[in-house]
Amino acid sequence: MNRRDFIRTTSVAGVGLAMGLPNITCAGNSQTQKAAILGGPKAFTGDWSKWPLIGEVEQDELMKVLNSGGWCRLGNKTAPKFEDEFQKCTGAKKALAVSSGTSALYTMLGALGIGPGDEVIIPPYTFIATYNVIVLNYALPVFVDIDIESFQIDADKIESAISSNTKVIMPVHIGGSPYNVDKVHKIAEKHHVPVIEDACQAHLAEWKGKCVGNWGLGGAFSFQESKNLCSGEGGAVITNDDTFYQNCYSFHHQGQGADVASLVPGSGIRGSNLRITEFQAAILLAQMTRLSEQTEKRWENAQYLTKMLKQIPGIKPAKLYNGVTKSAYHLYMFRYDKKAFSGMSRAQFIDALIAEGVPCSSGYTSMTREKYIMDLAQNKYYLSIYGEKRMKEWLESLSCPQNDQLCNEEALWFSQTMLLGTKTDMEQIAEAIRKIARYSAEISKI
Ligand SMILES: Cc1ncc(COP(=O)(O)O)c(C=O)c1O
Repeated sequence: MNRRDFIRTTSVAGVGLAMGLPNITCAGNSQTQKAAILGGPKAFTGDWSKWPLIGEVEQDELMKVLNSGGWCRLGNKTAPKFEDEFQKCTGAKKALAVSSGTSALYTMLGALGIGPGDEVIIPPYTFIATYNVIVLNYALPVFVDIDIESFQIDADKIESAISSNTKVIMPVHIGGSPYNVDKVHKIAEKHHVPVIEDACQAHLAEWKGKCVGNWGLGGAFSFQESKNLCSGEGGAVITNDDTFYQNCYSFHHQGQGADVASLVPGSGIRGSNLRITEFQAAILLAQMTRLSEQTEKRWENAQYLTKMLKQIPGIKPAKLYNGVTKSAYHLYMFRYDKKAFSGMSRAQFIDALIAEGVPCSSGYTSMTREKYIMDLAQNKYYLSIYGEKRMKEWLESLSCPQNDQLCNEEALWFSQTMLLGTKTDMEQIAEAIRKIARYSAEISKI
């Protein structure tokens, strides 16, 4: 099950939450209760929030656009209004709404004139779009392994991956939690390489009090349906650089519409149609009315959950770096050590949690082991641009052991929708895990 399906299936009827009513819960005493997978009662007794949440405000904004007949952003006001709001809430100088998070990343690489022969540094623990936008430009994705404790790019391994061909570092705030901004950006500055932040999962996440997406040359956000701010599909670029903004605007609008000002000579000479529609912008304006409150709720609930889960042997919530002042918690990521659970496999642990009424996923598979990625070494255009020797080296460089260990053995996720619940919900998640731990010897024999 992929991340999007996971978020969809964890978002079951939660009318109570949509209407602002508390979930009805009954904590129970886990000391005396059997694990649900062994026939005991479920630890979770409430309802998970549905997603996306829809109210009158969505209908009003959408009908305004529908009835106006102005459905494209050109010459109309809804997309610019959303851009103003998004720019204000992220604290950026400029925001450009686009058709998806992928488009936001693609626009920025396009505005920088990234192309054949260029290298872009990325982590392997991410959604495939981070990789695809590089390959769409016939540039070479260079993977830097992750810090298994945080699930984020390992900043200490970036410097050795930089070459004279490195044109961009594109780290990802995975799960909505900031990567080590200080360390990554210090290395980038030292080597004069721009940073494009993949903040597609990190709406309103903060490093030292400033929203992510503001630390590099530009930041990309996704508004795909599963995201903390969503409109089915959609995305945005934020930046504090006027020239870069103009080039992004131009790239996303067929190379037209703004004074093309090149950061790199010749970069502003390509373009496409990556524009957002007025319908998407209307939904986003409505969804924005709940974003801050929901972000606070996820942040509070996640911190509470972390306090409880940290006490359970074999469960390690993903580490937040010292500079993190807020995580968006698009995913609640944690690690599982089967040794503390009588050798019970991760798959069995997930089944046992689901039986308790607590949805859980093992998350991403190891990107650098996928055929889709490895086959790039045989792509005829890549062979002609980079040569056989470089592509062979590239294939060998795909080894990311920390990422393999995380993906294949340890990673677990709860979805952002689960963090919209009550404190009791968080307590019941922790209880479910404690119960499974206590009965692990029995469960592992099933
Ligand atoms: C880390 C990351 N980057 C990029 C994207 C691409 O965004 P979209 O699906 O809106 O194109 C996503 C979306 O899932 C993502 O999670």
